[in-house]
Amino acid sequence: MAKIINKKIFLNEEDIPKQWYNLAADLPNPPLPPLGPDGKPITPDMLSPVFPMNLIEQEVSTKRWIGIPEEILEILYRWRPTPLRRAVYLERYLDTPARIYYKDESISPPGSHKPNTAVAQAWYNKQFGIKKLTTETGAGQWGSALAFACSLIGLECKIYMVRISFDQKPLRKIMMQVWGGKCVASPSTETNAGREILKKMPDTPGSLGIAISEAIEEAVSDKTGKTRYSLGSVLNHVMLHQTIIGLEAKKQLQIAGEKNVDVVIGCVGGGSNFAGLAFPFVADKISGKKITIIPTEPTACPTMTKGPFTYDFGDVACTTPLLAMFTLGHNFIPAPIHAGGLRYHGLAPLVSQAIVEGLLEPKSYNQLICYESALLWAKTEGAICAPETSHAIAGVIEEAKKAKQEGKEKVILFNYSGHGLMDLTGYEKYLTGKLTDSSLPAEELNKSLNAIKDLPKAPIKKTGKW
Ligand SMILES: Cc1ncc(COP(=O)(O)O)c(C=O)c1O
Repeated sequence: MAKIINKKIFLNEEDIPKQWYNLAADLPNPPLPPLGPDGKPITPDMLSPVFPMNLIEQEVSTKRWIGIPEEILEILYRWRPTPLRRAVYLERYLDTPARIYYKDESISPPGSHKPNTAVAQAWYNKQFGIKKLTTETGAGQWGSALAFACSLIGLECKIYMVRISFDQKPLRKIMMQVWGGKCVASPSTETNAGREILKKMPDTPGSLGIAISEAIEEAVSDKTGKTRYSLGSVLNHVMLHQTIIGLEAKKQLQIAGEKNVDVVIGCVGGGSNFAGLAFPFVADKISGKKITIIPTEPTACPTMTKGPFTYDFGDVACTTPLLAMFTLGHNFIPAPIHAGGLRYHGLAPLVSQAIVEGLLEPKSYNQLICYESALLWAKTEGAICAPETSHAIAGVIEEAKKAKQEGKEKVILFNYSGHGLMDLTGYEKYLTGKLTDSSLPAEELNKSLNAIKDLPKAPIKKTGKW
């Protein structure tokens, strides 16, 4: 009988990582500090109307390892450790010598990696005496993850959902409601920021930048002081909470008998699922291992491949501190592609700095190639992936074909960030030929960047070793 290849590699609950990994401790040049409106680095207490102090401490920490509280693990055990799977059916179809592994984050109750940080953030807020969290959501994955976490931990939850996704994915709203969250389309008439935008652009599809402004406004204007804002990506503490993915993957690859990983891939919106899988491997690269690490993004929102690295706001109303990051300009409204979670103008400062250092090799893919890849995935591996995740799969297929051309037995690892069972409208449009590609015209990018030309510039510091 032919030798059976293990397609699922599990960890026991007692083998779950007990600490998160913080890349800030190991980056040759740590990210530049966030700046306040006066252009000076902000102090932790300036963030306190928006976030609880225990999360601010994580945000500014440069400690390499941060312990995961037992109560958080107790909630994560509902679906963690997630399986590491091997995509043998895709490998066979592509006739590639590459071995393709993926972390299956789609098995969490809301369907993506997002609850890894939603649970942690809700827990720290509750510890700090907070009663309600506000947030934005693009695809709806983050909003439902936070509603889920708040319902388990006992907090109120209000979600501003980007208009285009609100219309494309009505079932996500119902998921949020099942978990007790309140979800409104953004821009909304509930905040000053929303009303101002609706006056100027009544038909706007919305953007994550607008929804963030609305959610922050609601949090900071609560006179009781018991509401805070929660962000599903971009910030250092969010990257930190997601590293449980890569730390589990390392243990599982060992069990699978793999000594080395050649290529690590993840799709990027604000950067969190990519960072979660990749940062523990970035650490290996910094200490000398040869690994190609590829963050992937849509051509319609090419933050990493076309945006400059500079200071910019995280939201449209300029309420966040200035972050040193790759950006398309905070007013940028991407084309209404179906990967709603990848329609963000900026990028996590930690991921940005890793790009500046030359540790990562970003790539962009257009919408049609991504749907084609998602369909091939469904026909070989069986599962229907989130439109965001299809951007990672497009990168995996390209790398697997490259391994075949080169005749190399590479190990490719990627993050299967979410399922697409709530995203079938996009699939329907693709199957009926209604989807088009959109890349960002240079004039539009220049116009958007013009709006940030007077903001402080980020001095580029890199070692250039990689
Ligand atoms: C399934 C899925 N993957 C990826 C992303 C992108 O976000 P991030 O870059 O923070 O992982 C999202 C965001 O909503 C998502 O829902």
